[in-house]
Formats: sequence, structure tokens, C-alpha cells
Amino acid sequence: MTTDTTGTDPNAPAEGSTRAEGSTPAEGSTPAGDSAPGGGPLAGHSVLVAGASGGLGSEIARRLAAAGAVLTLTGRSRGGLEALGLDATTVEADLRGADGAATAVQAAVTGHGGLDGVVFAAGVVAFGPAGDVTDEVLRELFDITVFAPVRLFRAALPALTESAGAGRQPFVANISAVTAEAPTAGMAVYSAAKAALTAFDNAVSREVRSAGIRVLDIRPPHTETGLASRPIAGRAPRLPAGHSPCAVADRIVAAITGGDRDLPATAFGSARA
Ligand SMILES: NC(=O)c1ccc[n+]([C@@H]2O[C@H](COP(=O)([O-])OP(=O)(O)OC[C@H]3O[C@@H](n4cnc5c(N)ncnc54)[C@H](OP(=O)(O)O)[C@@H]3O)[C@@H](O)[C@H]2O)c1
Repeated sequence: MTTDTTGTDPNAPAEGSTRAEGSTPAEGSTPAGDSAPGGGPLAGHSVLVAGASGGLGSEIARRLAAAGAVLTLTGRSRGGLEALGLDATTVEADLRGADGAATAVQAAVTGHGGLDGVVFAAGVVAFGPAGDVTDEVLRELFDITVFAPVRLFRAALPALTESAGAGRQPFVANISAVTAEAPTAGMAVYSAAKAALTAFDNAVSREVRSAGIRVLDIRPPHTETGLASRPIAGRAPRLPAGHSPCAVADRIVAAITGGDRDLPATAFGSARA
């Protein structure tokens, strides 16, 4: 069952709120990476996935659910979120706006009694020479690639700090891209925005480490989600076959449950056609 938060009492606990029902693991009993009896490595952990309707976000959400996480899913289209068929709280939000992040975090906290993890898998891409990039495209790329995950981090920080205090080993997993490591001609603004996100992740990881919050920067190579066929500007060049979304999601969720802090492009191996 999907719980749609739009138009509902934000203070009402959602059905299936595991903390409210007392099925949340005891403090410190389910660190990410350890198996909970009858649960999974994330049993009872409240995790927010931004961009859950996307090719990567949807596969990550499925794997987090299988690992026992209690999910809050965001995307711009409710239809896309409901099509996943996951038992989750859903939040329809455009994360370019100032309020989207706070709304999503509030839905997770009120619906599931707290927040133990955030996965940022939202994004858009643009192609073409930098000289052709309009202000509109520049703004959208930086809004969704940089401003949105920073706002989401900021909105989630109090709840993640509380989670850390309870020994639940909270995490933030942000999907950057291989272009942060290898800035690419014809994708200069996308590359710059992803590099900014990776720089943020690296710095903030050190900032919150001592508070018990883990930040994971993820830089996947080209993946066959169809993203490249939906650019907000320009047209993708001929690209070699990319990685499978399932394989990339497997690796990302393994890094989340395994306690990793950095997932470079090389960690995904070679693409299989
Ligand atoms: N695919 C690749 O080759 C690749 C490689 C490296 C990194 N990445 C990164 O991985 C992430 C996921 O990419 P993907 O391939 O899964 O793309 P995708 O299938 O197009 O999914 C993109 C997701 O972002 C959401 N989104 C876009 N703009 C948004 C906005 N303004 N507000 C809220 N949500 C928004 C979309 O939601 P709606 O559709 O519901 O609007 C969708 O859920 C992106 O950050 C991308 O840059 C992708």
C-alpha cells in the first residue's frame, strides 16, 4: 500500500510506521551491514529516496525495501511513484523549489517516526557546447544537482542527528556521476554540477562524521536508464553500451549497507552489453 502524504494531516503517523508499532530494532542493534533476525540489514530503518521514480532510484528503492527499510519516496509524478508498487509513503515534490526537501523530510519523520537514511537519486542531464547553454538550463542543472541535495541534507540533518544519537548509524547517499571525476566535453555544465556535489559530499562527510552520520558519494558511469535520451537540452552523442540499472543499484545498496563512504566509477566494473 502506498501512503500519499499530500492533503493528509502531517502529524498523523502513517500506517505501517514501524517505530510507532514498536518493531524498530533496539538502539544500536541493527547497524547497517549487520543482519537483523527476520529483517535485513536495514530492518525498520526509515529511508527517504529522492528521485525514486527514476531508473536508478526505483531499483535502489526496491533493494532498500528488500533490505527491510521503511521507505518515503519522492518524485515529481505520483503516477511514477505508485507504479513501483512498494509499501511506502510517497511525496510528490519538485525538488528545485525551496520547500520540496523540507516537505519530504517531514513526511518521513511524521510517517515513520524518524529518519535514518537519505538517498538522492534525482537528476537531469543536458548536452551540447557550453556556449549554447541557456540560463534556464544552467539553473535547472544546478538546482536539481546541487541545490536540491544540499537542501535535503540540511532539512534531514536534525532527524539524522537524532538517529545517530540512538545508535542507528544514519547515512546520506548522494548520486553524483563519473563526470565529477572526468569532466566531459559536451557536458560541461552537468560535469561542473556533479563535481560541485561530489565536493560537497567530501567536505560534509568530514563535517558530520564525528556526529555519527555517514555520507556516501556515488559516481556511477553511464547507465541504461534512458536518462541520456531525455536531456533538458541538446542531444546525446553516440554512447557505448552502459551499465545495467539493476547492477548499478545492487552495487549502490551494497555500499549503503556495507558502510562505504565513497563509490567511484571504477567500483562498478565494466559495462556488460
Ligand atoms: N543514467 C546514467 O547514465 C547516470 C550516470 C551517472 C549518474 N547518474 C545520476 O543518477 C541519478 C539518477 O539518474 P537516472 O538515470 O535514474 O535518471 P532518470 O531515470 O531520468 O530519473 C531521474 C529522477 O529524478 C527525478 N527528478 C528530475 N528532476 C526533478 C525535480 N526537479 N524534482 C524532483 N525530482 C526530479 C525524476 O522524477 P520524475 O521523473 O518523477 O519527475 C526521476 O525520479 C541522476 O542524478 C543522474 O545524474 C545517472
